[in-house]
Amino acid sequence: NGNMKSPNLQDAASPLMEQLIFFHDHAMLVLILITTLVGFMLSSLLFNSLTNRILLEHQTIETIWTILPAIILIFIALPSLRLLYLLDEVNNPSVTLKAIGRQWYWSYEYSDFTQISFDSYMASSQDISESEFRLLEVDNRSILPMNTQIRALISAGDVIHSWTVPALGVKASTVPGRLNQIKFQINRPGLFYGQCSEVCGANHSFMPIVVESTSIKSFLNWISFNSDN
Ligand code: CUA
Repeated sequence: NGNMKSPNLQDAASPLMEQLIFFHDHAMLVLILITTLVGFMLSSLLFNSLTNRILLEHQTIETIWTILPAIILIFIALPSLRLLYLLDEVNNPSVTLKAIGRQWYWSYEYSDFTQISFDSYMASSQDISESEFRLLEVDNRSILPMNTQIRALISAGDVIHSWTVPALGVKASTVPGRLNQIKFQINRPGLFYGQCSEVCGANHSFMPIVVESTSIKSFLNWISFNSDN
């Protein structure tokens, strides 16, 4: 998996993650332009002998170099706000997944259907095959249908954790006594890996997340199979 070794963000598997990557690239472009300009000005200042003994202030240039950065900040702030509100917008989710962070594993509940709930622990190194990821595999994956609006309800049983799946553009703190809500839509089948991203205790590093994205048909089969038990 070339994805995992890349220094960049993982390939987006949800529309919102695509938007997050676009915004990241946009912000980086602005950042590089500013760094280049300021770097050029700093270095050219070192290598010239232009001095003005009596110059103490100049209203025009000070007005320009105050307002110009403010305008540049607006060009970052507006797309950022757009994304912020887009990420929070939940409309007509078809499936609700409840993820509960615990020391140190995840509990999942599918309360739309007949009560389906299970715990998801990290798979030990002995239990995984050669092709699987050490410290990232779990014993029970959370299965979700692709091309479907999914709502995740996020909470915790003991201390604060964070349900974080980079390829889906999802990262939400799980807080005891609170129920947080996030939404996403997975646009392809596959396995999407994540980790807890709130320093939550001794085994913080060992409570990975695996979302298995399937067709709606396979998802419903999985649901009915588990309902029978
Ligand atoms: Cu749970 Cu870190």
